[in-house]
Amino acid sequence: MLILAIESSCDETAAAVVRISENERTILSNVVASQVETHALYGGVVPEIASRAHIEAISPCVEKAVSDAGVTLSDIEAVGVTYSPGLIGCLLVGVNFAKSLAFSLGVPLVPVDHIRSHTAAAYFAEPQLKAPFLSLVVSGGHTSLYSVPTPAVYEEIGSTRDDAAGEAFDKVGRVMGLTYPGGAAMDALAREGFEARKAGKIEKSEQIRFPSPAINDDTFDYSFSGLKTAAVNHIHNLRQKKGLDKKDMLERWEMAEIACAFTESVVDGICKKLALALDNTECKTLVLAGGVAANSHLREGIQRLCSKKGVKLCLPALSLCGDNGAIVGAQAYYEYMDGVRGDTDLNAYASGEGAMAAKAIRRI
Ligand code: KG4
Ligand code: ZN
Repeated sequence: MLILAIESSCDETAAAVVRISENERTILSNVVASQVETHALYGGVVPEIASRAHIEAISPCVEKAVSDAGVTLSDIEAVGVTYSPGLIGCLLVGVNFAKSLAFSLGVPLVPVDHIRSHTAAAYFAEPQLKAPFLSLVVSGGHTSLYSVPTPAVYEEIGSTRDDAAGEAFDKVGRVMGLTYPGGAAMDALAREGFEARKAGKIEKSEQIRFPSPAINDDTFDYSFSGLKTAAVNHIHNLRQKKGLDKKDMLERWEMAEIACAFTESVVDGICKKLALALDNTECKTLVLAGGVAANSHLREGIQRLCSKKGVKLCLPALSLCGDNGAIVGAQAYYEYMDGVRGDTDLNAYASGEGAMAAKAIRRI
């Protein structure tokens, strides 16, 4: 089935054409127009600017996706679109564009949940992947663990009670003076920090320990706000001690040690709850997904845990961890097969709960 998929939930306008069936998962094109540079000026995503940028980018993005795929619009058999969760003004741009396109082409419209799309990146990484599996989605807005009994049924079994891991990475990066979004730069800095520790260049007394994001109970829940605040306070205190101004950069080795200690807490905390969930559910396949799934330390930590537990780990390609259209297309296929359809009155929803409460999608 040839699916054109559209994504506009946050700060990337994306469109892709995928060919998917029970035996094939092929990405024919995957176009992403990122607004990161625009928002970096403000240190975070400005929703109104993001919506306007989506309006400007969406037509050229879709046109390029169709031409890169070497197909024409008349070949498209369904249009998939992210309709929730995300920034409401941003989602509305994609939803309205997809609605018009699907109805003008006379093909089904398939609304897709953004978190499910992140998980769907694993279908390309692992051509044999089939539900049931567990999925840990770690992104800028979410840190949630799902049991996925079939590809179109997601049961949340754990989540963060406050901030998401990606949000915490970005905040700590920003306070240290890194460009938004700081996740990838924190990853590289942390590598320097781990290497410095290993080489004995950082005394034990200089090594920082931050609190764990794993909640100390028998749920599979996290809390990243305490960890985030501890790291931010540490940076402020260090600057104060050194007589530095708010905007002054710390020394490179100090930043590397902070990134390393922060990452250590994130990875250990995530793995702790994951180990509990794997033991409790006895699930033998795990998908790691979302923008933070690109983090090299998290990938290594979860890989180690899965090897120890005899669990098969599906890691999406780095290029498919962030927001893009191909992952929306993959999930749209499974939603379509499950009978999910969007009508002309399809709306966008900022939260997954909002979409559920509104009974936003129709099943045939
Ligand atoms: O999934 P995503 O593209 O957007 C959301 O749906 O939220 O995730 C974006 C998040 C940002 O917070 C970004 O800093 C983070 O993913 N990120 C990383 C890395 N690459 C992206 N965080 C840690 N390490 C990375 N290598
Ligand atoms: Zn995302």
